[in-house]
Amino acid sequence: MWPYQKILAHRGAGKLAPENTIAALRCGLAHGFRAVEFDVMLARDGVPVVMHDPYLGRTVAGSGNVFDYDAAELAGMDAGRWFGKQFAGEPVPLFADFAAFCKAHAIWMNIEIKPAPGFDAATGAAVAAHTRAMFADDIAAGAIADVPLLSSFSEAALAAAQVVAPDVPRALLLDVVPRNWEARARALGAVAIHTNHKHLTADLARRIKLAGFGLFCYTVNNPIRARELLAWGVDAFCTDRIDVIGADFA
Ligand code: G3P
Ligand code: MG
Repeated sequence: MWPYQKILAHRGAGKLAPENTIAALRCGLAHGFRAVEFDVMLARDGVPVVMHDPYLGRTVAGSGNVFDYDAAELAGMDAGRWFGKQFAGEPVPLFADFAAFCKAHAIWMNIEIKPAPGFDAATGAAVAAHTRAMFADDIAAGAIADVPLLSSFSEAALAAAQVVAPDVPRALLLDVVPRNWEARARALGAVAIHTNHKHLTADLARRIKLAGFGLFCYTVNNPIRARELLAWGVDAFCTDRIDVIGADFA
């Protein structure tokens, strides 16, 4: 049902390193993590980059939108200095480079497709196509536990991903799980529901599992809450506190 690892480092290494950077992946590895969630959107030239916010200013100095810049320009920007001067010069990663690092280090990926407004289908298609090409051998071999899981709050992005790469699994991200969640997930061929643990109840978790879906929660930083969620049948979660909740927590 859930062939993947159960504890994921959120945005690379949670709060221990600058989010969505290769430095975060190295930090996660140093903490024993080999499973990661991260966010991907398109640069102006249609190249996917690893970034959470659709605009500059918080994690990258500057102004304007991510889609105002080509990927090569973003890759020359500093995504580490805001977090600490020891990370100065850490670039905005290209998705291709970030995913290649993960594959090379056997880090399993939950790739969150995070389209800027208006770029839903293009982002879903680009991320899915690249992922499919990269994992074609694993897909052909049926090594499903090694193939990344795509997730998104954007159903248009997931629908586009399904067209481009139907054999790369998808998960529907929902902050609050609505009444029609099952029909929406089935329409996208989703294998899992990813949701905010703050709004999840034991009954809802039971119903999602009974319907045959994987169940993943974000972002779980309290070990007591983590135990409760796992007892409810939650399959996996991501955490910002990889120093408190270890990779072998489950
Ligand atoms: O993928 C789950 C989680 O990352 C969604 O929220 O804002 O941290 O990307 P956010
Ligand atoms: Mg995310």
